[in-house]
Amino acid sequence: MKKHIVIIGHGAIGLLWAHHFHQRSHQITLLTHRELLPNKKQYLKNIDGDSNHIEFTFSKTMPQDVDLILVTTKAYQVKDALSPWLNEIKAPIILLHNGMGSVDHLTLNETHKVILATTTHGALLKDNTIIHTGLGQTVIGNYQHNTPQQLIDCQALLDGVLPPVKTHLSIQQPLLLKLAINCVINPLTALNQCQNGKLQAIEFQSQIDLIIKELQQVIPLLEPTWIYTAETLKETIMRVVIATADNYSSMAQDVKFKRETEIDFINGYIVREGQKLGFEMIENKKLWNSINALY
Ligand code: PAF
Repeated sequence: MKKHIVIIGHGAIGLLWAHHFHQRSHQITLLTHRELLPNKKQYLKNIDGDSNHIEFTFSKTMPQDVDLILVTTKAYQVKDALSPWLNEIKAPIILLHNGMGSVDHLTLNETHKVILATTTHGALLKDNTIIHTGLGQTVIGNYQHNTPQQLIDCQALLDGVLPPVKTHLSIQQPLLLKLAINCVINPLTALNQCQNGKLQAIEFQSQIDLIIKELQQVIPLLEPTWIYTAETLKETIMRVVIATADNYSSMAQDVKFKRETEIDFINGYIVREGQKLGFEMIENKKLWNSINALY
């Protein structure tokens, strides 16, 4: 059945999903608060090099009859992007971004159905073209008030659009894994303005080990089903480093173009959580401060 999807956040990942929903004939509305509306015509360059374009519909107000709201803004934009609409939203809301903790800033009530998600798809936005740079997968899980059936329906909808999409019983676990990956790759590549692959160099290893050691003190206390040891977590992070070796991380790009970074929701998040549990997290705090000191 065709659905009406509202997407808030028109970066590479939001527009990648928008194209794929459109290809499956779902109705898409891109909700924006920008005075100057972005160009309606948006191109997609697929992983196999094929290109096509779509004329999207932008709206400054939340439409009626919405089936799903996908929020793909940066973590620090979620509150401002969603809060004006929270009173009228009845559809499930999916938050999909790097970092954690944005949901804590929302004033949610019993009627809000919230899903948290993480994805490993790679995408780049250049002018009006989204380039799908790496195939990945998406994991979703309940944050509040979705029945198991609602979650299955949502997974089936997303999986029919940009597969594979899986559900996780404790979404906290894949979110924390992505957080750990971002805690290492993003600030180090941003501070050194290097591609992800450079983190294989010997000179980064002791700092990476220290970051991971601190993560391993805190994450298992936040998520009792956490299965990683310092060794297996490092292996996992290094696999991402190698798979994305030629890419500049999102934070390396944010710093290069002097845009706000997600550091407060990445290393900042884990430092705040660690401190609540009595851990200092010196290395992660150093990275958090160094990125924020850049501008
Ligand atoms: O933020 C990013 O760039 C990505 O999440 C990742 C996995 C670090 C790859 O560049």
